[in-house]
Amino acid sequence: MTQVGIVGAGPAGLMLGHLLHLRGIDSVILENRSREYVIERVRAGVLEQGTVDLMREAGVGARLDREGMRHEGVYIAFRGRRHRVDMADLTGGRAITVYGQNEVVRDLIDARVGTGRPLDFDVSDVRLEGIETGRPVIHYRKAAGPQRITCEFIAGCDGFHGISRASIPSDRLQTYEKIYPFAWLGILANAPPSSPELVYSLHERGFALFSMRSDTVTRLYLQCRPDDDVAHWPDDRIWSELNARLRTDDGWQPNEGAIMQKGITPMRSFVVAPMRDGPLFLAGDAAHIVPPTGAKGLNLAMADVWRLADAFGHYYATGRDDRLKDYSARGLSRTWRAQRFSWWMTSMLHRNDSENPFDHERQLAELEYLVSSRAAMTSLAENYVGTPLE
Ligand code: FAD
Ligand code: PHB
Repeated sequence: MTQVGIVGAGPAGLMLGHLLHLRGIDSVILENRSREYVIERVRAGVLEQGTVDLMREAGVGARLDREGMRHEGVYIAFRGRRHRVDMADLTGGRAITVYGQNEVVRDLIDARVGTGRPLDFDVSDVRLEGIETGRPVIHYRKAAGPQRITCEFIAGCDGFHGISRASIPSDRLQTYEKIYPFAWLGILANAPPSSPELVYSLHERGFALFSMRSDTVTRLYLQCRPDDDVAHWPDDRIWSELNARLRTDDGWQPNEGAIMQKGITPMRSFVVAPMRDGPLFLAGDAAHIVPPTGAKGLNLAMADVWRLADAFGHYYATGRDDRLKDYSARGLSRTWRAQRFSWWMTSMLHRNDSENPFDHERQLAELEYLVSSRAAMTSLAENYVGTPLE
């Protein structure tokens, strides 16, 4: 009998497995993709202070400390000008760290392998049974044939398209969803960042974001249509659009370089409640999705599994399940706070075809207010750097 069966080896599943290991709780992690695929998947890049602190405390922060880039400010650009929000000054010294999600995943896989505890890639046909009877079993298939694991609990960390949430009868869940009428085209370019900090820009032609991964790699995004195809975006079109949307009157613009990766991400806000059904607990993108404009998805996933590991630790140490009972309500409260912030950043910074000139002027007025008021900038800064893990 396994104490906790974990479905999904993204940041949520891997961090949960590690935090349980530190508490002496055993787990099995099952992932339907290959190890290379999981490590190479390019996604988030912004870690909140709380996520960085968690990685350090869990003993997986050494490379993050060496290679992560601490950013104390962020730029908001519109009408041809860049405005710096000094996050550290506005939040009593808190900051974000730029470190690729794939690097986080790589560090967590190394830590898992170091513990010798099970982590199975390339499994298929994962299916959950016995959730309603409280005797959960995970069925799956490996090259060697069909397998089953009997667990005390299951953690569904298998992302938005996983099977865990779908295993809960829909009449036991309430879902909340908002789909935005745009998407992001993201690229990774072999070019040194031309700004030491991120630039979020609203332009007549739509949103663009300048970010980075290292001294030699720039990460850039631009708003595109939700049904767009990367085949419509040859490299020179991408650069001309990025330059048009990001260039500011002081002559600043991104450096160009060879494009190493391109992808389109749809944008949605999604919440499921509760985040638990009997012995099955949902964590990370399996339970909630935020549009990436607030840089909150990975950080919310980390906050979930930190809370879940604490609740399992408390349960196995004392036999009391009060923290497991609180898991969903506390998670939903953090999620809704992040949902509000991500929705606000998204609606302030994107052109929306269904809106009229009134809405666009209101957006610009919102941005003018933001960059001229210390109170408004403090509100952005404290949400962007994230609230501490309680
Ligand atoms: P995932 O990373 O989706 O991991 C789930 C895992 O489960 C996957 O490995 C998947 O293969 C596996 N799986 C799925 N189904 C099964 C199954 N049936 N059986 C077994 N395994 C299964 N967040 C931020 O905080 N900051 C950012 O800057 C940011 N930027 C982003 C930019 C982009 C372009 C995108 C797409 C996302 C961004 N995010 C950001 C969001 C962030 O990437 C996600 O919130 C994060 O990956 C969630 O982690 P997770 O472990 O919950 O889910
Ligand atoms: C990234 O660097 O990938 C990134 C940064 C900020 C965001 C989203 C993604 O809001």
